[in-house]
Amino acid sequence: MIFKQLFDQKSSTYTYLIASSKGREALIIDPVLENVNDYVNILKELDLKLVKVIDTHIHADHVTGASKLKNITKCSTIMGDHSPADSVEIKVKDDEYIYLENLKIRAMYTPGHTSDSYSFLMNDYLFSGDTLLINGTGRTDFQNGNAKDAYNSIFNKLLKLPDKTFLYPAHDYKGEKVSTIGKEKKFNPRLQVDNMDQYVELMNNLNLQKPKELDTNINRNLKLGSE
Ligand code: FE2
Repeated sequence: MIFKQLFDQKSSTYTYLIASSKGREALIIDPVLENVNDYVNILKELDLKLVKVIDTHIHADHVTGASKLKNITKCSTIMGDHSPADSVEIKVKDDEYIYLENLKIRAMYTPGHTSDSYSFLMNDYLFSGDTLLINGTGRTDFQNGNAKDAYNSIFNKLLKLPDKTFLYPAHDYKGEKVSTIGKEKKFNPRLQVDNMDQYVELMNNLNLQKPKELDTNINRNLKLGSE
């Protein structure tokens, strides 16, 4: 399998490129607009045909490269069916599968960070978007975020996956690249709570600054990055 984890310096976003092997079909998760030319170069180098691009949710901190990639490669755009973006071609439901030749990816509805957040599971690789981060969790204070929903998504869905499941989030701000569900259960400081109320209390007292260009990014992302 080809698996590339690409990093956007400006927004600390991880983008994932997946294909079964050279010369085959490829899929990209959470592309960043400014890096689309890099993705296209990698696709060319590996003789890959991009067929699908997924956004885990409407991002607030960067503009998605989904539309630009679609214009260049004619790939399909995918989001979960709670996405408010009208131009998404394929909206997948909770537990629905996305196929990429012999690879199979399960969509999991994991609201909380935003009301449209999905995670995607391919074998034992979990692409958690901003729902579950390494040593952190996605903030819940805008875009219909909800700490109770986040608790349910994390504790009753993602942490129920086997401990050995690899965690690949949409962001990391400290250079961490991968973790596992088992490690996060033990060491993630946000997960060391006894119940939902404690988690809600924790999330409601983070007092985080709003991301720069939040409104511009969201408005662009509602159109999958086109102007
Ligand atoms: Fe986000």
